[in-house]
Amino acid sequence: MKYLIALCLVVSAFAQAPKPCDSPPQWEAREIRQDYSRKFEEFRKLSYDETNRRVREVEEILLGSDKEYVDRLYLYNEAKNYSLNLKTRVCTVTALSRPFRHRGVFPGAKFDGIFNIGAVGVPGEVVAVQAFSANGTDGFYTGLVTYPSCYPVQNLFFSKENGFEHSDYFDLNIGIVDLNVFIPPQECIKAEEEMKKKKIMPVV
Ligand SMILES: *[C@@H]1O[C@H](CO)[C@@H](O)[C@H](O)[C@H]1NC(C)=O
Ligand SMILES: *[C@@H]1O[C@H](CO)[C@@H](O)[C@H](O)[C@H]1NC(C)=O
Repeated sequence: MKYLIALCLVVSAFAQAPKPCDSPPQWEAREIRQDYSRKFEEFRKLSYDETNRRVREVEEILLGSDKEYVDRLYLYNEAKNYSLNLKTRVCTVTALSRPFRHRGVFPGAKFDGIFNIGAVGVPGEVVAVQAFSANGTDGFYTGLVTYPSCYPVQNLFFSKENGFEHSDYFDLNIGIVDLNVFIPPQECIKAEEEMKKKKIMPVV
């Protein structure tokens, strides 16, 4: 009887291979982005809106560094890419060079497993996460999300064009505090008006 129960448990564990969970469609977080092929690491404030397919990434400035910092706004429904250099305040407006990239769980992703981060058995010191992977239109993708709420923890993306890109999310909040983050900065609106006057279309 014991064996039978054990067998039933195994069978039901297989039968319930989790379906991809739904990550919240709108959230904000701090992101650490590592791009191994271009050898850079960036700290960003990220606002992510899957419903309206728009993303804002504002680089966090480290005092005393002479690096260039960029404030990026991607509006996928309008195919617009705004890049504001935070030092020179010069904005570049181009067409978007890649499709919208899902964060959290990719649609139709395959379940790869569930495990714990932190110290197992110590109350308050452990978080269960689920791992998913998928072949997206422009590359291979993995996503780690908390269980059961499906909040994004990490995404890895591999494409032939860009190699490995790695994002870790911290201090995540559900929803967008100020929807104005998806309005281009003044410098970008001006740059776009100048382009329109000169009849220049945004180019990649
Ligand atoms: C957006 O434009 C910037 C500056 O021209 C460029 O470096 C970046 O690759 C573009 N990103 C996308 C996703 O099109
Ligand atoms: C993605 O495609 C590769 C190569 O075709 C395959 O080995 C892999 O299992 C696929 N992964 C998923 C999650 O579909």
